[in-house]
Amino acid sequence: MPRGKSQFVWTRRHLLGLEELSAEEIVHVLDTAAGFKEISTRSIKKAPALRGKVVVLLFFEPSTRTSMSFNLAAQRLSADLLEFHTEASSVKKGETLIDTGRNIEAMGVDIFVIRHAAAGAPQMLARHTNTCVINAGDGAHEHPTQGLLDIFTIREAKGRIEGLKVAIVGDISHSRVARSNIWGLTKLGAEVTLVGPPTQLPGGLAGERCRLSHDLDSVLPEMDVVNLLRIQHERQGANSFPSIREYSRLFGMNAERLSRCKDDVLIMHPGPINRGVEITSDVADGPHSAILQQVTNGVAIRMAVMYLVAGVKPEKGN
Ligand code: CP
Repeated sequence: MPRGKSQFVWTRRHLLGLEELSAEEIVHVLDTAAGFKEISTRSIKKAPALRGKVVVLLFFEPSTRTSMSFNLAAQRLSADLLEFHTEASSVKKGETLIDTGRNIEAMGVDIFVIRHAAAGAPQMLARHTNTCVINAGDGAHEHPTQGLLDIFTIREAKGRIEGLKVAIVGDISHSRVARSNIWGLTKLGAEVTLVGPPTQLPGGLAGERCRLSHDLDSVLPEMDVVNLLRIQHERQGANSFPSIREYSRLFGMNAERLSRCKDDVLIMHPGPINRGVEITSDVADGPHSAILQQVTNGVAIRMAVMYLVAGVKPEKGN
């Protein structure tokens, strides 16, 4: 068991979003992940925490970072792993998500990790099965482990979250990464500014919890962290800005803009990067960039989340 600072007792069998988590729960995941991170630095990168448990990766959408990171995290904790590939499955014959989940569950599994294009798919799986469910990204709704690994990376670099000024830049309205970051960061006391074209800034949640801006250059000098989002071409339908060149000119991070940031600004991007669009290569690969650190930390966060949900017994009759 990792040594975390928090005495908090985790009671959730699912991680569906950061909206439903308290600040205390978020800190507990971060502290648990900090304990697990050390395992990845050992010569034998293994711990027995999930020995005998079966983790199923249900990825209905493409992924590099999240799927490989969950895969590695499960292996590091000695779980058995089943990978589900949509193209080679009976989903192609019309089987529903619920039937797919219930049939796999009948084989005796413990954790579903699901990515799906439909917002709410993880919630549906959690309602219709008795297996732990972890959301690995559902439509434009939430990507909670990405939010957690981003917050972990910021806390590691800055030593705190409370009071930090964080800009999230780009296609906010289509971004599940933005939504999870907004919930998590604001619950922990960061001041979040959402920056993007008017067509990509949402109302409701953002208006209540964050400051909105269409002018990246005016907000940059005060920011401690700048998190640049990928343009979600697959979720936009018609483009919500005139051209890629226009987007890059107004909202792209480059060396000139970096020179006007704080000396210790942290530059982040969840990946995959559209190089030269959201961020130029010199900044993405430069000393202020935390992009690969985010990927490294993702493994520890996913170890922590799987460990925590698997440790909670189902209620009788659930
Ligand atoms: N950041 C992220 O979710 O990347 P993948 O789509 O590669 O998993």
